[in-house]
Amino acid sequence: MLELEHIKKEYDGVTILNDINLQINDGEIVSILGPSGCGKTTLLNLILGLVEADGGKIIFNGKDITYTPMEKRGFNIVFQDYALFPNLNVIKNIRYGLKNKPGISSEKEINDLIELLGLKEHLNKKIEQLSGGQKQRVALARTLVMKPKILLLDEPLSALDGVIKESIKAKIREIAREYHLTTVIVTHDPEEALTLSNHVMIINKGNISQFGTPDEIVNTPKNEFVEKFILQQLEIKRNNIYTLFESPELITGVGA
Ligand SMILES: Nc1ncnc2c1ncn2[C@@H]1O[C@H](COP(=O)(O)OP(=O)(O)OP(=O)(O)O)[C@@H](O)[C@H]1O
Ligand SMILES: [Mg+2]
Repeated sequence: MLELEHIKKEYDGVTILNDINLQINDGEIVSILGPSGCGKTTLLNLILGLVEADGGKIIFNGKDITYTPMEKRGFNIVFQDYALFPNLNVIKNIRYGLKNKPGISSEKEINDLIELLGLKEHLNKKIEQLSGGQKQRVALARTLVMKPKILLLDEPLSALDGVIKESIKAKIREIAREYHLTTVIVTHDPEEALTLSNHVMIINKGNISQFGTPDEIVNTPKNEFVEKFILQQLEIKRNNIYTLFESPELITGVGA
């Protein structure tokens, strides 16, 4: 179990995270949801160990890891821009981290992961030859071969849309289930958070606005911010979809 207790973070005297309390059970997918600049990436980096808290505690399986260095925590992150090595092909990217920790995944485990993520036919391709969704799957594979104790994903779906987005969502769910891997996902998109996770944490102005299951958040929003943020965002999406249906030329590009 991962626990955050009264986490505080300031930058240049400005409070970014005020009093964050959170418990994540093993194997759960939790989304951190909130508007741009609300501190989502900062919170993910705090869990990772890249950023140090100014107050509060981080506890993992009963052990205080607040001041444990990043490499000793054994968590791993997939950054929003994938951060793949452009000069290496797909399989070399996937195997890169194993140079420092050989044997952490067996050959069979590596092959199973490649199979699960549908990357078999792309292994010898250069990164520039891949689509966004394929790059995202390589980034996931590269992280997962290192067997992280917790998987952290910063806006993993924001560069994707439509079918590709749904397929990566399904992969993330499958991985969490298959490997019983605790997964924390940062997103600013309520639809993503509500459809992907067991629990959603909504942050506003450095505080938790609501923490609950997708069902609780949709049916019993705790305050006006949650209601507005969720409903407005979903409404914008719905309107866009209506616009598309009402103007089929936007979909086909050739008129109705
Ligand atoms: N290293 C830093 N030094 C100073 N201020 C920072 C630093 N990193 C982040 N901030 C500030 O902290 C606030 C929260 O940033 P953060 O990146 O966590 O937001 P976010 O919720 O991830 O936003 P977005 O959705 O746009 O990615 C912002 O106001 C940002 O300017
Ligand atoms: Mg961010």
